[in-house]
Amino acid sequence: MRFLTTLLFLTAMTVSAQDAPKQGGGRGGPPKNLKVLKAEDERAVMGAMRGALGQRCDFCHIQGDNASDENPKKLVARNMMVLVNDVNAKFPDGKAHVSCYTCHRGKTIPDMMPPPAAPPAQ
Ligand code: HEC
Ligand code: HEC
Repeated sequence: MRFLTTLLFLTAMTVSAQDAPKQGGGRGGPPKNLKVLKAEDERAVMGAMRGALGQRCDFCHIQGDNASDENPKKLVARNMMVLVNDVNAKFPDGKAHVSCYTCHRGKTIPDMMPPPAAPPAQ
Protein backbone atom coordinates (compact mmCIF):
# COMPACT_ATOMS: atom_id res chain seq x y z
CA MET A 1 0.00 0.00 0.00
CA ARG A 2 2.92 2.33 0.52
CA PHE A 3 3.35 2.68 -3.24
CA LEU A 4 -0.15 3.80 -4.06
CA THR A 5 -0.41 6.06 -1.08
CA THR A 6 2.86 7.87 -1.68
CA LEU A 7 2.11 8.74 -5.25
CA LEU A 8 -1.54 9.50 -4.79
CA PHE A 9 -0.57 11.87 -2.06
CA LEU A 10 1.39 13.94 -4.53
CA THR A 11 -1.64 14.13 -6.78
CA ALA A 12 -3.84 14.97 -3.83
CA MET A 13 -1.83 18.07 -3.14
CA THR A 14 -3.04 19.58 -6.39
CA VAL A 15 -6.60 19.44 -5.04
CA SER A 16 -7.39 22.78 -3.42
CA ALA A 17 -8.11 22.97 0.28
CA GLN A 18 -11.79 23.79 -0.21
CA ASP A 19 -12.18 20.67 -2.35
CA ALA A 20 -10.70 18.46 0.35
CA PRO A 21 -12.87 15.43 1.10
CA LYS A 22 -15.03 15.53 4.19
CA GLN A 23 -14.14 13.26 7.06
CA GLY A 24 -15.30 9.78 7.79
CA GLY A 25 -17.43 6.85 6.75
CA GLY A 26 -20.40 8.96 5.83
CA ARG A 27 -21.19 10.22 9.31
CA GLY A 28 -17.75 11.37 10.42
CA GLY A 29 -16.81 8.07 12.06
CA PRO A 30 -13.88 5.80 11.17
CA PRO A 31 -14.07 3.93 7.84
CA LYS A 32 -15.99 0.64 8.02
CA ASN A 33 -15.35 -0.95 4.65
CA LEU A 34 -11.73 -0.47 3.57
CA LYS A 35 -10.29 -3.52 1.78
CA VAL A 36 -7.20 -1.94 0.23
CA LEU A 37 -6.45 1.40 1.86
CA LYS A 38 -5.34 2.15 5.39
CA ALA A 39 -7.68 4.40 7.32
CA GLU A 40 -5.16 7.21 7.70
CA ASP A 41 -4.66 7.36 3.92
CA GLU A 42 -8.33 7.34 2.95
CA ARG A 43 -8.90 11.10 2.71
CA ALA A 44 -5.85 11.90 0.60
CA VAL A 45 -6.48 9.02 -1.78
CA MET A 46 -10.16 9.94 -2.28
CA GLY A 47 -9.20 13.48 -3.24
CA ALA A 48 -6.53 12.18 -5.59
CA MET A 49 -8.85 9.71 -7.32
CA ARG A 50 -11.45 12.39 -7.81
CA GLY A 51 -8.88 14.56 -9.54
CA ALA A 52 -7.44 11.70 -11.57
CA LEU A 53 -10.82 10.79 -13.08
CA GLY A 54 -12.20 14.33 -13.19
CA GLN A 55 -15.32 13.28 -11.27
CA ARG A 56 -17.05 14.02 -8.02
CA CYS A 57 -17.23 11.70 -5.02
CA ASP A 58 -20.65 10.38 -6.08
CA PHE A 59 -19.23 8.99 -9.30
CA CYS A 60 -18.11 6.06 -7.14
CA HIS A 61 -20.17 6.56 -3.99
CA ILE A 62 -23.86 6.40 -3.19
CA GLN A 63 -24.71 9.78 -1.72
CA GLY A 64 -24.58 9.69 2.08
CA ASP A 65 -23.06 6.20 2.41
CA ASN A 66 -19.40 6.03 1.44
CA ALA A 67 -19.05 2.58 3.02
CA SER A 68 -21.61 1.04 0.65
CA ASP A 69 -20.28 -1.08 -2.24
CA GLU A 70 -23.50 -0.75 -4.24
CA ASN A 71 -22.06 1.59 -6.87
CA PRO A 72 -20.26 -0.67 -9.41
CA LYS A 73 -17.77 2.13 -10.19
CA LYS A 74 -16.47 1.81 -6.64
CA LEU A 75 -15.70 -1.85 -7.21
CA VAL A 76 -13.87 -1.05 -10.44
CA ALA A 77 -11.91 1.63 -8.58
CA ARG A 78 -10.96 -0.82 -5.83
CA ASN A 79 -9.69 -3.30 -8.42
CA MET A 80 -7.71 -0.52 -10.05
CA MET A 81 -6.05 0.32 -6.72
CA VAL A 82 -4.80 -3.25 -6.63
CA LEU A 83 -3.69 -2.97 -10.28
CA VAL A 84 -1.71 0.21 -9.52
CA ASN A 85 -0.06 -1.43 -6.52
CA ASP A 86 0.87 -4.49 -8.59
CA VAL A 87 2.42 -2.36 -11.33
CA ASN A 88 4.40 -0.24 -8.90
CA ALA A 89 5.65 -3.31 -7.07
CA LYS A 90 7.29 -4.47 -10.32
CA PHE A 91 9.54 -1.41 -10.70
CA PRO A 92 13.07 -2.41 -9.73
CA ASP A 93 13.77 0.75 -7.70
CA GLY A 94 10.90 0.07 -5.33
CA LYS A 95 9.39 3.51 -5.92
CA ALA A 96 5.90 4.43 -7.09
CA HIS A 97 5.83 5.52 -10.74
CA VAL A 98 2.23 4.90 -11.72
CA SER A 99 -0.95 6.44 -10.32
CA CYS A 100 -4.57 6.64 -11.43
CA TYR A 101 -3.67 9.85 -13.21
CA THR A 102 -0.96 8.13 -15.28
CA CYS A 103 -3.69 6.53 -17.36
CA HIS A 104 -6.83 8.51 -16.62
CA ARG A 105 -5.61 12.11 -17.08
CA GLY A 106 -8.87 13.56 -15.83
CA LYS A 107 -11.12 11.16 -17.81
CA THR A 108 -13.21 8.20 -16.73
CA ILE A 109 -12.12 6.02 -19.67
CA PRO A 110 -8.48 6.52 -20.65
CA ASP A 111 -7.60 7.05 -24.31
CA MET A 112 -6.42 3.93 -26.08
CA MET A 113 -4.98 5.76 -29.09
CA PRO A 114 -3.71 9.25 -29.84
CA PRO A 115 -6.23 11.59 -31.50
CA PRO A 116 -6.47 10.76 -35.24
CA ALA A 117 -5.60 14.31 -36.30
CA ALA A 118 -2.41 14.47 -34.25
CA PRO A 119 0.41 15.63 -36.54
CA PRO A 120 3.62 13.60 -36.52
CA ALA A 121 6.28 14.93 -34.16
CA GLN A 122 8.94 16.88 -36.11
C1 HEC B 1 -12.85 6.61 -8.40
C2 HEC B 1 -13.79 6.17 -7.36
C3 HEC B 1 -13.85 6.97 -6.10
C4 HEC B 1 -13.99 8.32 -5.94
C5 HEC B 1 -14.06 9.40 -7.02
C6 HEC B 1 -14.08 8.56 -4.52
N1 HEC B 1 -14.03 7.38 -3.85
FE1 HEC B 1 -14.19 7.14 -1.84
N2 HEC B 1 -13.82 5.11 -2.02
C7 HEC B 1 -13.59 4.48 -3.23
C8 HEC B 1 -13.20 3.12 -2.95
C9 HEC B 1 -12.84 2.06 -3.97
C10 HEC B 1 -13.22 2.96 -1.54
C11 HEC B 1 -12.86 1.69 -0.76
C12 HEC B 1 -11.33 1.61 -0.61
C13 HEC B 1 -10.86 0.31 0.05
O1 HEC B 1 -11.56 -0.71 -0.06
O2 HEC B 1 -9.77 0.32 0.68
C14 HEC B 1 -13.64 4.24 -0.99
C15 HEC B 1 -13.82 4.50 0.36
C16 HEC B 1 -14.22 5.71 0.89
C17 HEC B 1 -14.49 5.97 2.29
C18 HEC B 1 -14.44 4.95 3.41
C19 HEC B 1 -15.84 4.49 3.69
C20 HEC B 1 -15.90 3.36 4.72
O3 HEC B 1 -16.58 3.53 5.76
O4 HEC B 1 -15.27 2.32 4.49
C21 HEC B 1 -14.83 7.29 2.40
C22 HEC B 1 -15.22 8.05 3.67
C23 HEC B 1 -14.77 7.86 1.07
N3 HEC B 1 -14.40 6.87 0.19
C24 HEC B 1 -15.05 9.17 0.79
C25 HEC B 1 -14.87 9.76 -0.47
C26 HEC B 1 -15.01 11.17 -0.71
C27 HEC B 1 -15.36 12.22 0.33
C28 HEC B 1 -14.75 11.36 -2.05
C29 HEC B 1 -14.67 12.67 -2.83
C30 HEC B 1 -13.61 13.55 -2.42
C31 HEC B 1 -14.49 10.05 -2.62
N4 HEC B 1 -14.57 9.11 -1.63
C32 HEC B 1 -14.23 9.82 -3.94
C33 HEC B 1 -13.73 5.03 -4.47
C34 HEC B 1 -13.87 6.38 -4.76
C1 HEC C 1 -2.87 1.11 -16.65
C2 HEC C 1 -3.85 2.16 -16.87
C3 HEC C 1 -4.83 2.44 -15.71
C4 HEC C 1 -4.55 2.81 -14.43
C5 HEC C 1 -3.19 3.01 -13.79
C6 HEC C 1 -5.82 3.03 -13.78
N1 HEC C 1 -6.84 2.78 -14.64
FE1 HEC C 1 -8.84 2.94 -14.28
N2 HEC C 1 -9.26 2.34 -16.18
C7 HEC C 1 -8.31 2.04 -17.13
C8 HEC C 1 -8.98 1.69 -18.36
C9 HEC C 1 -8.30 1.31 -19.67
C10 HEC C 1 -10.36 1.79 -18.09
C11 HEC C 1 -11.51 1.52 -19.05
C12 HEC C 1 -11.81 0.05 -19.06
C13 HEC C 1 -12.96 -0.21 -19.97
O1 HEC C 1 -13.03 0.37 -21.06
O2 HEC C 1 -13.81 -1.00 -19.59
C14 HEC C 1 -10.50 2.19 -16.71
C15 HEC C 1 -11.71 2.38 -16.08
C16 HEC C 1 -11.86 2.81 -14.76
C17 HEC C 1 -13.12 3.04 -14.11
C18 HEC C 1 -14.51 2.82 -14.72
C19 HEC C 1 -14.93 4.08 -15.44
C20 HEC C 1 -16.30 3.97 -16.04
O3 HEC C 1 -16.85 5.02 -16.45
O4 HEC C 1 -16.85 2.88 -16.10
C21 HEC C 1 -12.83 3.48 -12.85
C22 HEC C 1 -13.84 3.86 -11.78
C23 HEC C 1 -11.40 3.52 -12.72
N3 HEC C 1 -10.84 3.11 -13.90
C24 HEC C 1 -10.72 3.92 -11.61
C25 HEC C 1 -9.34 3.93 -11.47
C26 HEC C 1 -8.66 4.32 -10.26
C27 HEC C 1 -9.34 4.80 -8.99
C28 HEC C 1 -7.32 4.16 -10.49
C29 HEC C 1 -6.17 4.36 -9.50
C30 HEC C 1 -6.27 3.59 -8.27
C31 HEC C 1 -7.18 3.68 -11.85
N4 HEC C 1 -8.42 3.56 -12.40
C32 HEC C 1 -5.97 3.41 -12.47
C33 HEC C 1 -6.96 2.08 -17.00
C34 HEC C 1 -6.27 2.41 -15.85
